[in-house]
Amino acid sequence: MAKILIEGGKSLSGSIKVSGAKNAALPIMAGVILSTGPVRLTNVPALNDVDTMAKVLQALGVKSTYGGNNVYNFDASGSLSDEAPYELVKTMRASFFVMGPLLARLKKARVPLPGGCAIGVRPVNIHLKGFEALGAQVSIEGGCAVAVAEKLRGARIILDFPSVGATENLMMAATLAEGRTLIENSAQEPEIVDLAKFLNSIGARIEGAGSPTITIEGVERLGGSEYRVMADRIEAGTFAVLGAMTGGPVRVENCEPDHLLALINKLREMGAEVTCEADAMIVRSNGRLKAVEVKTLPYPGFATDLQAQLMAAMCLAKGSSSVTETIFENRFMHVSELARMGASIAIHDRTAVVHGVKSLQGAPVSATDLRAGAAMVLAGLVAEGQTEISQVYHIDRGYEDLVGRITKLGARIKRIEEPVAQK
Ligand code: UD1
Repeated sequence: MAKILIEGGKSLSGSIKVSGAKNAALPIMAGVILSTGPVRLTNVPALNDVDTMAKVLQALGVKSTYGGNNVYNFDASGSLSDEAPYELVKTMRASFFVMGPLLARLKKARVPLPGGCAIGVRPVNIHLKGFEALGAQVSIEGGCAVAVAEKLRGARIILDFPSVGATENLMMAATLAEGRTLIENSAQEPEIVDLAKFLNSIGARIEGAGSPTITIEGVERLGGSEYRVMADRIEAGTFAVLGAMTGGPVRVENCEPDHLLALINKLREMGAEVTCEADAMIVRSNGRLKAVEVKTLPYPGFATDLQAQLMAAMCLAKGSSSVTETIFENRFMHVSELARMGASIAIHDRTAVVHGVKSLQGAPVSATDLRAGAAMVLAGLVAEGQTEISQVYHIDRGYEDLVGRITKLGARIKRIEEPVAQK
């Protein structure tokens, strides 16, 4: 079991490079199931979740090889299985993205229902209703979602909520349907635009991704392509918060600041200076940050995936801040961990009120989920003394070599691999 140790209180500066986006790479990899020609994906982050998705694809019959340097090659031209394996799917919710492409290509899919996770129940009813609208018969059998269709037909689908995963799954399912599909009230996240661009690169006809209405004209067959995965906006946002908390200047490279306007506005409101270039941001701050109010919303609103990190910054800000979480019902697990470091936070229903304190103290804490883990790293970097973070496998799911990259900014941070105790 690995741990991260941090000696806090050092001001950090320098450049840090952003990796490819996990949340774009995973659905794009699922989209490979639709292709009948070779697909080469570049800028794929080297993460456990990506590895799991590659294994799910292999289990389905897709040939997948890692070519080094964040490049994956795929060949889905052979015959594929319509059953995704439980052992792999249960470890990662995003495996459910294979349902839409399998249904489109094989007219049948059987995928274990993803369980809940630390941040909420996370049902897939919106995905399933959409498959039905496209003409599939959907049932739940032995813990699996099963969808069967003689033929998928284009339809007008109005999502109950702009779910990111449902928009992606349905967009993929509709690529090979007969006729035109409209997905209304669709999610508008940049990862959806990236998935649409990839699907179009293999021959799909998708318009309107990134807006509330996506139009998909079904085609008969999809080919192959080479595609570069977009930069990870959540990782870029995490590093921007790091710059604001530690003083900086921190230059966040290989990112698209346009994807982060909600965060950038909040950081500026807190008194940080953020300078944007076409593919970089420079973040610095002078003196104590100021309190701010934040509400998480679907894109282009403030991302729920950046909520924990900004809360870490609020802990030391002057005055009382608040965070209202509207996307997930249980996404305040980091609050009790931050409190262990001396933060003063009260939760009222879906709002956390953070009373800024003058200092945080290092402590043993847990990375209770991926972004909560990132928040612990940020808090540890500004705390007095040593912070020891356990359950770092959560952090590994979303940040490639986080410790190595932050070390280059001057941080006293290290990872230790602890031997598993003998019983
Ligand atoms: C994706 C991201 C995740 C991010 C989230 C919201 C990936 C791999 N993960 O997750 O990092 O935090 O978007 O930006 O891209 N819901 C339903 N029924 C459904 C689907 C969703 O009720 O069928 C609810 C969920 O429980 C949740 C909300 O809708 O409360 C948002 O979920 P959704 O947008 O689907 O998030 P994911 O795609 O799971």
